[in-house]
Amino acid sequence: MGQVGNLSISQLCQPARIITAVNGQLPGPTIHAREGDTVVVHLVNESPYNMTIHWHGIFQRGTPWADGPAMVTQCPVKPGSTYTYRFNVTGQEGTLWWHAHISLLRATVYGALLLRPRGGAMAYPFPEPHGEETVILGEWWNDNVYDLDQMAFLTGNPARNADAYTINGKPGDLYNCSDANQTYKFQVQSNETYLLRIINAALNTPMFFKVANHSFTVVGVDAAYTTPYDTDVVVIAPGQTVDALMAAGAAAGRYYMAASPYDSAVPQGPAFSMTTTTAVVEYVGSAGEETPPPLLPERPDYNDTGTAFRFLSNLTALVLPGKPTVPLSVDTRMFVTVGLGVSDCQPSQLLCNTTMSTPPVFSSSMNNASFVLPTTTSMLEAHYRNAAAGVYTRDFPDQPPVIFDYTADASDNATLQFTAKSTKVRTLRYNDTVEMVLQDTRLIAKESHPMHLHGYNFFVLAQGFGNYDDATARAQFNLVNPQERNTVAVPTGGWAVIRFIANNPGMWFMHCHFDAHLHLGLAMVFEVQDGPTAETSVPPPPLDLPQC
Ligand code: C2O
Repeated sequence: MGQVGNLSISQLCQPARIITAVNGQLPGPTIHAREGDTVVVHLVNESPYNMTIHWHGIFQRGTPWADGPAMVTQCPVKPGSTYTYRFNVTGQEGTLWWHAHISLLRATVYGALLLRPRGGAMAYPFPEPHGEETVILGEWWNDNVYDLDQMAFLTGNPARNADAYTINGKPGDLYNCSDANQTYKFQVQSNETYLLRIINAALNTPMFFKVANHSFTVVGVDAAYTTPYDTDVVVIAPGQTVDALMAAGAAAGRYYMAASPYDSAVPQGPAFSMTTTTAVVEYVGSAGEETPPPLLPERPDYNDTGTAFRFLSNLTALVLPGKPTVPLSVDTRMFVTVGLGVSDCQPSQLLCNTTMSTPPVFSSSMNNASFVLPTTTSMLEAHYRNAAAGVYTRDFPDQPPVIFDYTADASDNATLQFTAKSTKVRTLRYNDTVEMVLQDTRLIAKESHPMHLHGYNFFVLAQGFGNYDDATARAQFNLVNPQERNTVAVPTGGWAVIRFIANNPGMWFMHCHFDAHLHLGLAMVFEVQDGPTAETSVPPPPLDLPQC
């Protein structure tokens, strides 16, 4: 049961205010499941806002109506209404999460979704940890986020930067006006090993994560096991998860765990400062009057793309019997630019033509198509009822409309792409193998875009900086043990190549997991056709599916 309603909370010396939260908790409740389980969640919307919940990273095979993105797979659950999400956990172990998939509400409506092996902890492909701890990175605004979102929508600007980053909902005591009560504490026993399940639920900020005097062995990302990877820093973009073992092998005492932003975009505003959220790792028995303040880890600079790239590109999959392996032949190849730009109309005008308005407004796009959600019915219903007309079009391009120098530093307005707002999908035949090159652009600013695909994991074959060059890149493809993910952080001013098999019929959102970019149109949808049998076709909608 998930009751979405009001929670009164006070942080950063602000008067108590009402936020939207699940079961009165921030973060919301953790859902525990085992591989093979069916998860049933009754959403009871007692908030004043339209609501949907997305089960981030769950394949939703056979249950496309439970995926959750508003207007893609369902109409919103209205205030005072309910909807039941029901899905299976199949072939996935590790850490996922859930979040609101409407407006900016995921700022406070989110929680962990922990998938354990059928055989319990004994069945992990690594030594059984003494304990486990969930570490959710987030962002906190002193304002009502729904109002911020409305304002953003009307002005065409992204919502302003957050007031603080958080760990498990708390900013930590390094912020002004924040103290031990607003600092999460994690107790450890000397010489025991802990599994940290780290989730980046922040809306717009990739993070470096460290614990002073401790290092990690990464064993999984996005609920897929990895070859054990030793590191003293975890790099995690919004939407991603990292499972890391941490040995409590330091001298008994107190240590900060700290998360600070990374991205090499324009270093301005709080989002790009070294503002750091902290929690405390406390060795049992070490806290007393005399205890010195916790030790703070040294954080990489916000523009340390080298450290980010090293972590993200060094990960490989742990190849296990029965696990999917990378498909070697490809049916559909796509080259897709992801980035910012300017568009011809205000977001509030929704669909409009390509006549430039003055002034042009900030926008985001994939292959120059700036995505807008339909308003009358969900895309999945339109697909199911063969009624795409007026809801979406099947002309998402496989190439950008103009080839230009995507990543050079010189600003060149001649190649600045003006985008048009549209609702374009790419239709895929059931079981097609898709290879997609995701190319960041320098339009407005180079940035690492965390690209998330619903309904699937994909293999990340290679990634690099600069403009994609097919011959050089192809020579670097990892076709043996590429990491499996649901969210890839396309390198800043660079590219990533992914592959997946379209064996899950339905309408699957693909988008930048920066909320600011998603709302400006950095998104598209895959329409995956039915297979030959009832099991491989979109089932009829559940009876309680909300109507628009
Ligand atoms: Cu975690 Cu479409 O999002």
